[in-house]
Amino acid sequence: STFQKALSMEFLLFLLFTPYALGDSTPFPTNFLFGTASSSYQYEGAYLSDGKGLSNWDVFTHKPGSTDDGSNGDVSVDQYHRYLEDVDLMEAIKVNSYRFSISWTRILPKGRFGEVNMAGIDYYNRLIDALLLKGIQPFVTLFHFDIPQELEDRYGGWLSPQSQEDFLLFADICFKSFGDRVKYWITFNEPNQHVSVAYRKGIHPPCRCSGKFGNCSEGDSEKEPFVAAHNIILSHAAAVDIYRNKYQAEQGGEIGIVVHIDWLEPLSNSTADQLAAERAQSFSMNWILDPIIFGKYPKEMEMILGSILPKFSSNDKTKLNQGLDFIGINHYASFYVSDCISSVCESGPGVSTTEGLFQQTSQKDGVPIGELTPFEWLNVYPQGMKKTINYVKERYNNTPMFITENGYGNLYDPDKTNEEHLHDIKRVNYMSGHLDNLMASIREGADVRGYFTWSLLDNFEWTYGFSVRFGLYHVDFATQKRTPKLSASWYKDFIAKHKTES
Ligand code: NOJ
Repeated sequence: STFQKALSMEFLLFLLFTPYALGDSTPFPTNFLFGTASSSYQYEGAYLSDGKGLSNWDVFTHKPGSTDDGSNGDVSVDQYHRYLEDVDLMEAIKVNSYRFSISWTRILPKGRFGEVNMAGIDYYNRLIDALLLKGIQPFVTLFHFDIPQELEDRYGGWLSPQSQEDFLLFADICFKSFGDRVKYWITFNEPNQHVSVAYRKGIHPPCRCSGKFGNCSEGDSEKEPFVAAHNIILSHAAAVDIYRNKYQAEQGGEIGIVVHIDWLEPLSNSTADQLAAERAQSFSMNWILDPIIFGKYPKEMEMILGSILPKFSSNDKTKLNQGLDFIGINHYASFYVSDCISSVCESGPGVSTTEGLFQQTSQKDGVPIGELTPFEWLNVYPQGMKKTINYVKERYNNTPMFITENGYGNLYDPDKTNEEHLHDIKRVNYMSGHLDNLMASIREGADVRGYFTWSLLDNFEWTYGFSVRFGLYHVDFATQKRTPKLSASWYKDFIAKHKTES
């Protein structure tokens, strides 16, 4: 009868909507990875222990004036010696994955111009086994900014195609040694960010720049970022190629790359600004992913850069065909973008041909896009997470994604009390807002499979040294004591509510 039909209809609707109404459903797929992220130079310390060679960062930070607070990563949070304690901290908040990077110079102190350091292999074996024992999946990055200094000295690091051979050897050793237990591999962390700070602005090693871009005596800011990235993209392709052919069938893991992606919003509705925002994504992010996924650089880059942009040979293109299994997204902030072709822009970052003839700001008519922080690269616009994910989903046909980094950094104020350091409500709000937007994008169909917050512990923040803190755990660097902040317990509760494992 009609009455019965209506009743069953109501029942169906009840089934459909009750979980949302009760608020106990989660959009996260089963086995979604909830984790924290780190990197070798920022965490390990022990920079000369057990046969490790010198990295570019070891050499750089030992030059006076390299970091804001004069600090370096010689000791940092000493994870090399304290990994068991740190795995316990992870277990305490019930993450099921840990993203870390392998220090190239622990494995190959002098790149391919020397022996493998077995003590380095042993360390990562111990770390991986300790993680797995607690049900924490290792999510491993091969390159996270630190390379053997030997490669810089011999042939100029990423500026030489020889770097591809070195990376391939390093990757091969890692797949062979750890791939029976590591099921997630990242070839490169943020190559887009890396080449910009190392070869355009000249503020990270090898500190090369020229012209208006920075204060260096050597370099070519117009060309070198593109040359370095080209070698990095081809190194990625070579590593994926060997993983696919030698290891993947047997080991059953996945391999991808991580890019830094800010959300870039057109400053106005004008076509020029919309094109500028699109161009800005190409110049900051798509130029790494497009070659790997489509086999070529974005058209607008080729048009603007002409002969500055290196070309892929047909041999390169065959290798690039191996693509990737997932896209890693490091997302922190959002900016407005305006056009600098049809309108005059103030001189500043982003207005040169090399940078794509656009200008980036964090305010529109004096109103910030989101809460600003003391750092020009960080602001709080949680919707940027969803917009970024949707952009990547559309452009790359919903390739599986992981949010490999997202987090909130605060300036460290030594005058604050311990209590105040631990009450990191701004970090909680940041994470909560960004995770809400991540959940919304998953509900709308985005294939996102993991979220890693930067970072488990306060750690060495590159040229900022220890003056910027990202940890869920406060670290007292004088004693190495770790203490959970409010964000640690908040993340723990969030995970408890949303984690489902099969
Ligand atoms: C991205 C980098 O991968 C990481 O090393 C850095 O510490 C965070 N962003 C925060 O700046």
